[in-house]
Amino acid sequence: MNWLTTFMNSSIGKKFTMGTSGLLLCLFIAQHLVGNMMLFGGEALFNSYVATLSAFKPLVRIIEVIISIIFLSHIISGIRLTLDNKRANSSSYNVNTGSETSSFSSRTMAITGSVVFIFVIMHLSTIWYRFQLVHGSGSYYDIILGDAVGFGNPIYAAFYVVAMILMGVHLKHGFQSAFQTFGVSDSRYKGLIEKMSMIFWLVIPAGFTWIALWFGFIAEAI
Ligand code: HEM
Repeated sequence: MNWLTTFMNSSIGKKFTMGTSGLLLCLFIAQHLVGNMMLFGGEALFNSYVATLSAFKPLVRIIEVIISIIFLSHIISGIRLTLDNKRANSSSYNVNTGSETSSFSSRTMAITGSVVFIFVIMHLSTIWYRFQLVHGSGSYYDIILGDAVGFGNPIYAAFYVVAMILMGVHLKHGFQSAFQTFGVSDSRYKGLIEKMSMIFWLVIPAGFTWIALWFGFIAEAI
């Protein structure tokens, strides 16, 4: 197990954890967007979708624990890499000409990542909490569209829009550095892989942003 600790503490080990956990989280948000799109099908469809999920609660709980572990390992390796980067950049021996660009990129990642983290905490303590613990016999759809913690509240809706855009920025940089970690940058499939990554950093955040814009601001106005 010594080799594992050595690997996890190495720069490449931290980047590997970062990239792998990031890719797994992308799979989660992809399926989450598909589920959330049910909102466009109206109240009955969305409520029956959530009720169907509730029927598989033990499985959902196991998945939630797995997502939490992946999310935590992503955050911990992100903090460790940011600190490593800071140390490297403040070292008087560091004369690497690429360091300014990489420190800018990692600073952006730390800021956008922190906003996404704050978003997830807000999201879980409002929507998830109500769905799981407060819901009772009310409508799930109404929680999402209501003005307490849903898109009916312009402050929440605006925060969703801003956070989703920053999540896209975070994923764009994230994919670029994951490509370097996994050696894709030199692969002959680079072009194809880069195009496919746009699904995650552009299409999916745009989908979430559209939900917040539509239910928060547009549907009411037309
Ligand atoms: C338009 C935007 C979004 C909407 C309408 C939405 C809706 C929901 C709903 C309804 C739940 C509760 C599911 C349940 O308890 O049965 C939930 C849970 C959750 N959401 Fe979101 N979500 C959105 C965006 C996001 C994003 C962008 C992330 C991640 C960055 C995220 C992360 C989570 C997590 C981790 C959970 C708990 C796990 C789960 O129950 O699936 N959500 N969301």
